[in-house]
Amino acid sequence: MKFTTPATTNPIDRLQVIGKPTDRIDGPFKTTGTAPYAYEQHKVAPNAAYGWVVGAGIAKGTIRRIDTRAARAAPGVLAVITHENAGKLVKGKYNTAHLLGGPEIQHYHQAVALIVAETFEQARAAAALLHVEYAPVNGVYDLEAAMNAAGPASKDKAKSTTKVGNFEAAFASAPVKLDATYKTPDQTHAMMEPHASTAVWQGDTLTLYTANQMINWGKKDMARTLGIPEENVRLVSPYIGGGFGGKLFLRSEALLATLGAKAVGRPVKVTLQRALMMNNTTHRPATIQHIRIGATREGRITAIAHESWSGDLPDGGPETAVNQTRLLYAGPNRFTQMRLAVLDLAEGNAMRAPGEAPGMMALEIAMDELAEKLQMDPVTLRVVNDTTVDPEKPGRRFSQRRFVDTLRLGAGRFGWNRRNPKPGQVRDGRWLVGYGMAAAFRNNLVMKSAARVRLERDGTVTVETDMTDIGTGTYTIVGQTAAEMLGVPLSRVTVRLGDSAYPVSAGSGGQWGGNSSTAGVYAACVKLRENVAKKLGLDPAQADFSGGMVRAGGKALPLEQASREADVIGEDTMEYGDLDKTYQQSTFGAHFVEVAVDAATAEVRVRRMLAVCAAGRILNPKSARSQVIGAMTMGVGAALMEDLVVDKRAGFFVNHDLAGYEVPVHADIPHQEVIFLDETDPVSSPMKAKGVGELGICGVAAAVANAIYNATGVRVRDYPVTLDKLL
Ligand code: MOS
Repeated sequence: MKFTTPATTNPIDRLQVIGKPTDRIDGPFKTTGTAPYAYEQHKVAPNAAYGWVVGAGIAKGTIRRIDTRAARAAPGVLAVITHENAGKLVKGKYNTAHLLGGPEIQHYHQAVALIVAETFEQARAAAALLHVEYAPVNGVYDLEAAMNAAGPASKDKAKSTTKVGNFEAAFASAPVKLDATYKTPDQTHAMMEPHASTAVWQGDTLTLYTANQMINWGKKDMARTLGIPEENVRLVSPYIGGGFGGKLFLRSEALLATLGAKAVGRPVKVTLQRALMMNNTTHRPATIQHIRIGATREGRITAIAHESWSGDLPDGGPETAVNQTRLLYAGPNRFTQMRLAVLDLAEGNAMRAPGEAPGMMALEIAMDELAEKLQMDPVTLRVVNDTTVDPEKPGRRFSQRRFVDTLRLGAGRFGWNRRNPKPGQVRDGRWLVGYGMAAAFRNNLVMKSAARVRLERDGTVTVETDMTDIGTGTYTIVGQTAAEMLGVPLSRVTVRLGDSAYPVSAGSGGQWGGNSSTAGVYAACVKLRENVAKKLGLDPAQADFSGGMVRAGGKALPLEQASREADVIGEDTMEYGDLDKTYQQSTFGAHFVEVAVDAATAEVRVRRMLAVCAAGRILNPKSARSQVIGAMTMGVGAALMEDLVVDKRAGFFVNHDLAGYEVPVHADIPHQEVIFLDETDPVSSPMKAKGVGELGICGVAAAVANAIYNATGVRVRDYPVTLDKLL
């Protein structure tokens, strides 16, 4: 089905099941420990052997010699896989470095061997006996030092640089100017479940139980890496313990489990050890961002420039931190640019709202600084610079843009008028108290997505799609969509996800999954409704599905009558064509934060947080709220704690475990409130929904930093805002 805009009225609009706060249907399985994760496939692979991954001890160079004899002779060891016996492996499309290093080493902790043994402990013990001799060479690990050598971020120049009007001239003559540089550190996803896979071979056919957000990408890339037909690869990923972009692609544990299982002729399971995750997998790259804004005395932006530098391995990509600056505020003279340095650290790639998350960390402090120079309220400054069109391409309108509504509603609800605009003035005992705010902005992507819906003979409905639920609530919104479309209660719908045997979905990433995957289920349900009506001899155009009945032309029949002799199936793909050429689709919001800073120690406590989100129809307000408060929590981590510290001599992230890489715990997070604007976006899909999870993180860190400035008068432009920077 091809989506044509605007979406017309359809059964989803009845909102009998969709739009209602609904408990996650996978919740009880997870909380009772009965949801099998990738490493827990005891039922299908009871005899699985254990793998232990060995990571490279240098960041760049070659393996001169690898001696596996002692490891192979150790108790319980079944095989040792290295580049010398792995066979020919083609690099996948989505990984920048080879997943199994050797003889060339491209980054620290790149996998160089897998030890397979009867038990986990035996594999670990044997790993200590593996002897690898390296020939290291010097690498480049310091973004700041590599800045001047950084080239355009993309071969497509239009993508790395945009220019409108004459920024330099307009900035030079602007009566009020802001010119500042901001830094965001490398960050890691730090999801609860590490990368994990259980590989089972039957003849030439691989079944890989794996924690993966994008089943079809993973299936294709595994086939490509091994040089086998795609139909010989099946990926199964029904439950995933968090991803945040770290599980968008195959990682080394998936390939090594597969190679190990082939070598020992039985299933092998591998979980990437926590201490390898930061340097072995992908991370959010650090950025240096230079922002210049010129404005009239009334606060109208006349010139805005945002330049961002980041680094990645050769052939890698940039952190697209200027994305939001191309779209968020008006202003006739504009310049944005991304430059990319070659760094020999682990691969940079997507992490929760790639681009906008670190971009908003910089832009929204810059706006706070500009407001102060103008002696203008920060909320008002943003309202004054709102735009209804893409400011770089004025012919393109936003499908929906209720940014100003989120600002006004948030300011009222938060009590923003109680803020003292002069910093360092408000005391509460030993605490300095401050308010801060920031805009929220994240693009809304739509991806084609397919599903199969079956009316079973007992009248229940089964939905199958290779869509994943990474803890986001997909099972539930997919089930709600089918229930709404077919007029049955949610309890009569069974949802099957995360299996490449099912139709190819949008997958989970970039906050496109919720709207896109349910739109695919919608398309399949439209097909099923037609097939049911036809079987019952009813006019499909007239048929109304509700209360488990189908009604048309004065007749009313129970739904299951259609499936008495055989199941009835509907299968389809929702496709969008070049919808994004006509409309700019984005999600908007506002974050408000109250902090207290200890006047003596500079310890920061977040006291109160509010997010207002304009993100189209909210399919399940309960799971959407969970997504947003999770993202707000991650934003507090970005503001105050998260920092992968680079050893600039040896070339690795030093704090590569969850003891040294700090993220917020419950005690760090105060009262959080989330308000969703009541809106629908008829341009986004027949669901009229948009992404919301990633919107929840964009801007939070800047709101915290701005609140700290309001509390203390200390402006920190270098994240995280740790207490040493405040004293
Ligand atoms: Mo997304 S970058 O897969 O959280």
